[in-house]
Order: sequence, then structure tokens, then C-alpha cells
Amino acid sequence: MGWVNDKMKLVCSKCGREYPWSFTLQCKDCEGALLDVEYNLEKVHIPPSGPTGERFFDLLPLMKRESIIDGGEGNTPCVHAKELGKRFGLSNLYLKDETKNPTGSTKDRQGALPVAVFREMGVLEFVTSSTGNSSTAIARIVARFPDMKMHLFVGDEFLSRINVVGSPNLVVYWLKNGTFVDAHKAAAWYAQQTGITSARGIFFFGQREGLKTAYLEATDQIPKPIDVYIQAVSSGFGVYSTYRGAYDYLRLKKIPYMPRLVCVQEETCNPMVRAWDAGAEKITPEHIIPFPRGLSKSTLRGDPTLAYPYIRSVVLKTNGTMVTATQDEMREMRKVLYELEGIDACYTATMTVVAAQKLARAGWLKPDDVVMLNITGSDRKNAPYPDPDYVVEKARDGWEVTPYREGQDEGCLNRVMRVVRTALNLSTDVELDTETKLMGGGLALDSVAMLELVLSLEKEFDCKISPSDICSDNFATIGHVADYFRARLSSRMISA
Ligand SMILES: Cc1ncc(COP(=O)(O)O)c(C=O)c1O
Ligand SMILES: [Zn+2]
Repeated sequence: MGWVNDKMKLVCSKCGREYPWSFTLQCKDCEGALLDVEYNLEKVHIPPSGPTGERFFDLLPLMKRESIIDGGEGNTPCVHAKELGKRFGLSNLYLKDETKNPTGSTKDRQGALPVAVFREMGVLEFVTSSTGNSSTAIARIVARFPDMKMHLFVGDEFLSRINVVGSPNLVVYWLKNGTFVDAHKAAAWYAQQTGITSARGIFFFGQREGLKTAYLEATDQIPKPIDVYIQAVSSGFGVYSTYRGAYDYLRLKKIPYMPRLVCVQEETCNPMVRAWDAGAEKITPEHIIPFPRGLSKSTLRGDPTLAYPYIRSVVLKTNGTMVTATQDEMREMRKVLYELEGIDACYTATMTVVAAQKLARAGWLKPDDVVMLNITGSDRKNAPYPDPDYVVEKARDGWEVTPYREGQDEGCLNRVMRVVRTALNLSTDVELDTETKLMGGGLALDSVAMLELVLSLEKEFDCKISPSDICSDNFATIGHVADYFRARLSSRMISA
């Protein structure tokens, strides 16, 4: 089939079959393997500076230069973290500070590019789901184009992380009793029902390819080749695209060898690391986290079944590894990163610092290895978020979509937090979050207070809680309680 526009082609990542340049995302054979974009390296010229989309145009999946959308993303700082490095015994520790992107995360690179690709391919309406960062980034760009429409599915606690308001072409579907996993499933169902294009997560090369510019920039910003590149993963877009970027740079002789790729996930939602540690080629039920929760909101993808084999393969090819970060480590390193390097990262991004410390202690990182941490994002504190357009709930044969009525709907998490606050008579300056502990630390409820809370929850949710359900599996934190009621509501064991 040859090069399209003398520039690129779509190739099956497994069998190498070429596909016409179109919104084709999976191989017709190979069990629907994802398609990679190969670039005609003879034609690649990368100027030393310029807006990211312009500069890396020859390595991005766009036909025409006029299609580039500049969302102000990229060209973020890359700093030599001398103080942090000293603490871990690493003399070449670098941070790619992606918190400096327009919406505070690396996902802005995954905003402008996919929209530009969609527009070139004539896709003006699409369905997607997210934990907040990528959809905020995409919605911000879509808002520029009145001829586009984005249907966005979000789980209960993620609505407040969608920080684009007043956009007439963003339609928000809120799973008020659902997790991100539910939102993802509902989005796929909705796309199938309506025939609207699904952005299809990691399979859409437009989304994947945008992220690699963080790695390309970082490589150009430091004097030595990167030995190890560490990144927090949810579906692994970032890691896969880093691999593709390094693959191109290696063939262009811009780097002498591939960096080892390291993935990191949080202890409460680490399906990929579980599978990796077990040496599994695929995700199987024992790795899946059905009700993911944790500090790292951006990576609460409990079921990465489709993405995992690709991520495992690039981690294996580069002699990388996968690491779990505990919540205590994340809390500590978030402070350390801020104190030593002045970066106010979100918990997700902080996990890379935990991984660096662990791998240095274990001797997996050598003192003079050049280690790059992708500090993928920060929190958008108190940023406004939109009212949903629709509420989505589980129905017997799919999902029920009803228009949102202002003020009449409240998600499971908010209901639990409201009841906790009133039942325990907490003043407004006590901050509550999914991670607030009810037993042990945190609110440390005694048995009387616990009984009080259980009675109030029974009243709120109009149900009986059996004594055997009052255990740490269901009541350890506010997030656990919200999940407990989500499960009961979604199985229709009690009324909403
Ligand atoms: C800040 C941040 N870091 C890392 C990730 C992991 O993303 P992925 O595995 O899809 O590259 C996300 C995903 O939303 C994110 O928002
Ligand atoms: Zn194939």
C-alpha cells in the first residue's frame, strides 16, 4: 500500500498488514490487534524549537500541516532533580514537568491531536469516557469547533474532575452510582446503540500518538540518553506511545538505545502489576479490581484487559518492569517532591517518585543511570465542572439514560459523605474524601458512633445492613462505603 502522503502508514502491530489511512483501529485478523502508525523516516525533519504540534508534525498522524491544532500544550520544563536524586542516590534523576500544561496534565497532548485527526477523518461526533484529565483536555479543544459533539461518560466521583464548563458541544452522561469501569462500559454500549463513533481508548492512534511528544521533548532537553523512563499507568497510552517515540528516535539515530520502560500503579488498583508479577500474558479475573478506589484518581481503571498485552510487550522488549506504590509512600513522596523540587504533583504523578525510590533501593536503578520521571499531572483545585446533561443507571438489559434534573440528583459518594457529616456531627472544616478512614485512623469511629452511622445510612438508602456486612471490606473508608452502596444499588437489591 505504501506511504500515505509520503509520510506514514497504518500497520497491524502483530501481523504487519497495512491498512488504508482511515479511522480503522484494529486488524481484521489477529483478534483485533491495534494498528501502529509507521513514519517515513527519510522525510522526518524535527526543528530545534516551536509549538509541539508543529515541531513534531513529521512524527504525528496528520496528513496536512493546516490540520494541526495548537492547544498550547507541550514544551514543558525538564529539570535535573538534584536534591531528590541525592536522597535516592541517583545522580542523573530528571523530571519532565507535565503539570505545566494548559489543564495541568500530560493529557493536553492527548487533546489537540486526536481532535485534529478526527477532523481530518471527518469524525465530528464521538463517545468517550475518562477519569477526568483526558476528557477535560479533549473537551477544551472540542469547544473550539461548533460543528463537533463530544458525548462523555463519567463515574460518580469523577464528575468534579471534568473542568470544562459552558461548552455547547460537550454532552455529559453521569453514572451517579457508577465507577469509572461502569462509565467505560456504558460509553461502549451507548456508541453501539446510537452508531456514534467510539473514541475507543488505547486503540485510537490519534489519542496514543499525541502523548509521545512528552518523551521526545524530554530526550531533546537533557544532555545524555535516557536509560529509564518511569510513568504512572491506567490503560498505558503513555507508556505505549513513549515506546513508539523511542522506536522512531532510535531508527533516526537520535538515541543510541531504547530506554527501559517502567510502569507504576497504586496498591489499591494495580491490575497490571498483579498480572506482571504473576508472569501472566493476559489479565485474568484474579487481577481485575471490580470497584477500584484510591488516591490516584486518574488510574482507577480496574480492568485493563485489552491494553495490558501491549503494555507488557513493550515493557518486556525494553527490559523494563512494573512497580506498586503504597498509599503511605505516595503521601510521603508527594510532600518530598514539593519540598525538594517545588512541584505540586497529583498522587498519580507522585507514584513515579515512589517507583524511583523503590527501584534505587533494590539496586534495579544504578547510581548513574539517567532516570526520567514523567510527572504527568497536578490537581485542578476547586476548578468548576459542568452539570450533567443525563443521568445513567444500570438497567436489566443495558443502561437507562434519563435527562438530569438540577438539584434532584446526588451521587452515591456525596450521599455517603453527607450522611457521615450529619450522623457524626462533623464541622465543615473536617475534610472528607474517598480515602477518609472510618475505622482505625482517620475518623476512628468507636462502636457507638459506628452504630449511629449505620442507622443513618440505612435510613438514607432505605435498606437494612446486615451485621456481617459491617466489616473493613465495606466500611474501612468512605470510598468503601460508597462502593458498598453502589454495588447494592446497581444490583437493584435496594431502591435508589
Ligand atoms: C495525570 C495522569 N497520569 C497518568 C495517567 C495514566 O494514563 P495512561 O495509562 O492512559 O497513559 C493518567 C490517565 O488519565 C493521568 O491523568
Ligand atoms: Zn494483524
